[in-house]
Amino acid sequence: MSVPVGVEARDWRWQFSGRPQPALHDLSFSIAPGERILLSGPSGCGKSTLLMALAAVLGADQGTETGLLLVNDSAPDAGRRLTGLVMQDPETQVIMERVGDDVAFGCENFAVPRDETWRRVHASLASVGLTGPGLPVTIDTPTAILSGGQKQRLALAGVIAFEPGLLLLDEPTANLDPQGVLDVVVAVSRVVRETGCTLIVVDHNPAPWEQLLTRVIALDSSGGLASESADYPRVNRARVPVTRVPGDVVISTVNLSVGRPGQPAISVPDLTLRAGTITALSGINGSGKSTLSLTLGGLLPPRSGEIIVGAPLRHGLRPRQVPSPHLWPARSLVRRVGSVFQSPENQFVQPTAASEVGLALRVTGVKRHEAAERVQSRLELMGLVDLASAHPFTLSGGQKRRLALVSATVTQPGLVVVDEPTFGQDDDSWSDVVTLLDELARAGSAVVITTHDPDLLAVVDHIVTLSPMVPVA
Ligand SMILES: Nc1ncnc2c1ncn2[C@@H]1O[C@H](COP(=O)(O)OP(=O)(O)OP(=O)(O)O)[C@@H](O)[C@H]1O
Ligand SMILES: [Mg+2]
Repeated sequence: MSVPVGVEARDWRWQFSGRPQPALHDLSFSIAPGERILLSGPSGCGKSTLLMALAAVLGADQGTETGLLLVNDSAPDAGRRLTGLVMQDPETQVIMERVGDDVAFGCENFAVPRDETWRRVHASLASVGLTGPGLPVTIDTPTAILSGGQKQRLALAGVIAFEPGLLLLDEPTANLDPQGVLDVVVAVSRVVRETGCTLIVVDHNPAPWEQLLTRVIALDSSGGLASESADYPRVNRARVPVTRVPGDVVISTVNLSVGRPGQPAISVPDLTLRAGTITALSGINGSGKSTLSLTLGGLLPPRSGEIIVGAPLRHGLRPRQVPSPHLWPARSLVRRVGSVFQSPENQFVQPTAASEVGLALRVTGVKRHEAAERVQSRLELMGLVDLASAHPFTLSGGQKRRLALVSATVTQPGLVVVDEPTFGQDDDSWSDVVTLLDELARAGSAVVITTHDPDLLAVVDHIVTLSPMVPVA
């Protein structure tokens, strides 16, 4: 049984080294033990920074603080054992090679007896819907093969298992399919009710949490306190008209099956991706959406079946390269395909946001002056101009995602493949992202996205649903 933990901020301010403005400033609030808080505010306002500070994972070398931030009346460092944080990017949180060991890790650190640890491992994995009858994952599954959404559930199970007094969840439903969202909300609700722990959750769509939460602390875009109230922010997204004109077939597939090395192959419904259209891949966590995206984007060879490369992408390819994008040399890929992965960190290679966006333009020989203008206009479109000289790794979750999207598409490639383009975006940045995808399609790209976002599914031209893992012999 955990002991609920109180939190207090007194004129607290945090400034990251190398940034001209503080990420958070003039923060004064208090959270009583057992309160259940939604922490809200636009992308980049400092939500993740505040959670990391409370969990004592912001290093003193990363920036400077003034004022006080207290966990049970002490510095967050002293409350480390009381605090469980599920970070925004679940990739960064997997520690052990096997699912069961990963969940046990936290308990073992806190010297929970072995039998009790393993009882909790089984219970928490089942409660987040990761293991159980009919599900493919067990305690022995290697963590490396889990999908993004499965890793998110794993991270939550690991934190629930050691029964923290302060539970900090940073967008815990962002990568999840609709059933996963329910599983996670139910699992967290159960833990909170059973242990009485204090909860702070960040979620751009708070609706599923409202029954559980007691109030909202909202930050403004400068990182100050906007309000403390009982009013939940409503998702209010602008409508995008869906009247696009389909053009030539850019890529199609026949009897395709895909798979990562050493993993079972997954069969895929036949696809026809046309210029001028947006196609969504949907399907539950682990159904192979990201694996298919990597294959279409030329980063994995197909396991069997055919990929037929249409006229818009064929120009300039040698005949032996035509059968599949994975045979194209890097330079040909950059010109033809813009891929954005689920974890954008994996793709940043430049020291600043502006040079990251400009890279593909330089590689494809766009003139310097024109390139600079294009970089500027794309950064403006994504609300990233003030961060032009920031290191990509230091951006917030939503900012990274928008940077990855413009960097991969700035050359207007014929095929655009984006994994979960809208997760982690507030209403305004959601519209910016959807406007960009729409513009890319209208300018002639075939855009293919994976998404669970119902508002995004409402503005695409086609939806292709992948079935739960169907292993092919
Ligand atoms: N390690 C870092 N170094 C420098 N600046 C950082 C670092 N991490 C975050 N920032 C900056 O601090 C500000 C707050 O970032 P934070 O990640 O806390 O935002 P957020 O509210 O969680 O956003 P999102 O909704 O996009 O996840 C942003 O301007 C971000 O660019
Ligand atoms: Mg964040």
